[in-house]
Amino acid sequence: MSMYSDKVMEHFRNPKNMGVMDSPDGVGEVGNPVCGDVMAVYIKVKDGRISDIKFQTFGCVAAVATSSMITELAKGKTLEEAAKLDNKSVSTELGGLPPIKEHCSNLAAEALHAAVKDYLAKRAQTGTRPAH
Ligand code: FES
Repeated sequence: MSMYSDKVMEHFRNPKNMGVMDSPDGVGEVGNPVCGDVMAVYIKVKDGRISDIKFQTFGCVAAVATSSMITELAKGKTLEEAAKLDNKSVSTELGGLPPIKEHCSNLAAEALHAAVKDYLAKRAQTGTRPAH
């Protein structure tokens, strides 16, 4: 029996929003200190909301599933709402994650938060939307 819920396996087999994004408005990249895997989240922002989002990871089943889930949750949300999504929101949606995979499930939320910060920092620099 798999240690993962059906929902986790579903997102792992058919991940949503996986891939690269051309000229994103914000990029967040984080590494998992426990396993060394890396995660990147790309966002496009329109009228203060996340209009598009993509992720890339070399992580495990839990990392892929949580990224897929969090990109689904974050799409259409305001930046403030996205910044509040954490690994709890994700693992609840996924029907729970094995405790030993806790560090993996943090990656997606951390990368999303980093992408929001990156967008805000770029916007602060240019005074308006980031120029590309
Ligand atoms: Fe590296 Fe899960 S083992 S992300």
